[in-house]
Amino acid sequence: MKTKVYIAAALAGALLFAVGHLTATGGGMSRKTQENLSTAMHGEAFAHAKYLLYAKQAQRNGNAELASLFTKAANTERLQHFAEEAQLAGLVGNDADNLKDAIKGESYEVDTMYREFAEQAAAAGDKAAADRFEEVRHDEMAHRDAFKTALAKVETKPSAGR
Ligand SMILES: [Fe+2]
Ligand SMILES: [Fe+2]
Repeated sequence: MKTKVYIAAALAGALLFAVGHLTATGGGMSRKTQENLSTAMHGEAFAHAKYLLYAKQAQRNGNAELASLFTKAANTERLQHFAEEAQLAGLVGNDADNLKDAIKGESYEVDTMYREFAEQAAAAGDKAAADRFEEVRHDEMAHRDAFKTALAKVETKPSAGR
């Protein structure tokens, strides 16, 4: 009886192992690790931007030492942590790939994210946020369109974008 349980457990383990491998990419990285890399990169990018604002605030208060601490940490978040994780994740492709990815992101912000955020803020009576979301949405349209123009240029040059 016990042997049966062991065999069942071993089979379940082997199955989980196989499924884990099936979800891995060509680079041999599991889906979970890829997701974690994406989460980590978002955190590092946010910390970078936030620390620069904190540095500005410290500078305003005349605390140059604290400003320098925040600036140094901000640089590490972006130039080391984000950059190294981006390398592992294979974030950067050729110019055409990068433009397509950028267009996808900007389009999502224009058509879905900022549109909904503006609507929701307006419905909640948060007028300043609603106005800001709508203004940013228009900026993202300009980004999307500039990237589309750049992509068309890259794609007409046969050797470009690599
Ligand atoms: Fe970091
Ligand atoms: Fe943008």
